[in-house]
Amino acid sequence: MPVENKAIRHEDEDVPRRTFFKILIAALNGLIGLAFAIPGAGYILTPLLQKREGSWMEIGRVNDFPEENVAKAVFRYVDTTSYAHEEKQNFAWVRRQADGQVVAFSPKCTHMGCNVSWNAVTAQFECPCHGGRYDAQGNVIAGPPPRPLERYATKIENDFVLIQHRVS
Ligand code: FES
Repeated sequence: MPVENKAIRHEDEDVPRRTFFKILIAALNGLIGLAFAIPGAGYILTPLLQKREGSWMEIGRVNDFPEENVAKAVFRYVDTTSYAHEEKQNFAWVRRQADGQVVAFSPKCTHMGCNVSWNAVTAQFECPCHGGRYDAQGNVIAGPPPRPLERYATKIENDFVLIQHRVS
C-alpha cells in the first residue's frame, strides 16, 4: 500500500510541472510570432501613417495661362502611397486672375469625385455625373456638390507656376 501512495503522489507533482512547461512553450511561441509580426506590420503600416506633405511641381510658364481664363494643366507625379511608388498623371484647372494671382482647382467634383470640365461659353465648371456646376471661382451654383472645388496651393517662381500636389 505505501508503494501505491508514493506513485500517486509522484504523478500529482508532475501536473504543475507539465502545466508550467505548456505555458512556457506557449509564451515562447507568442514571442517568436511577435518577432516576425512587428516588422511585417511596420512595413505595411508605415506608408499609410506617413504625413503627406505634397511636393511642389511646375505646371507651366505664367504666360501659358491666359489672363482671366481657365486652362487645363496636366502634370505627372510619383505616388508614394503605393509600395511600388508608381508614376501617375493628373491635372488641374488653372485660372490666372487679373491681379496676377494664379488659382489651381482640383478637377474632382466634391459630390462623388467625377472630373469636372470647363465650359468657356458659360464660364462654369460642369460635372458630367449628376449635373453639378461651379462658377469660375469654384463655388457651387447648381446640383448636389456639398462644397466648392478644392484648390491646390500655388506659387510663382522664376516665371513658372508651381502647385503643391497632395496625394489623398
Ligand atoms: S459627382 Fe459631380 S455632381 Fe455628382
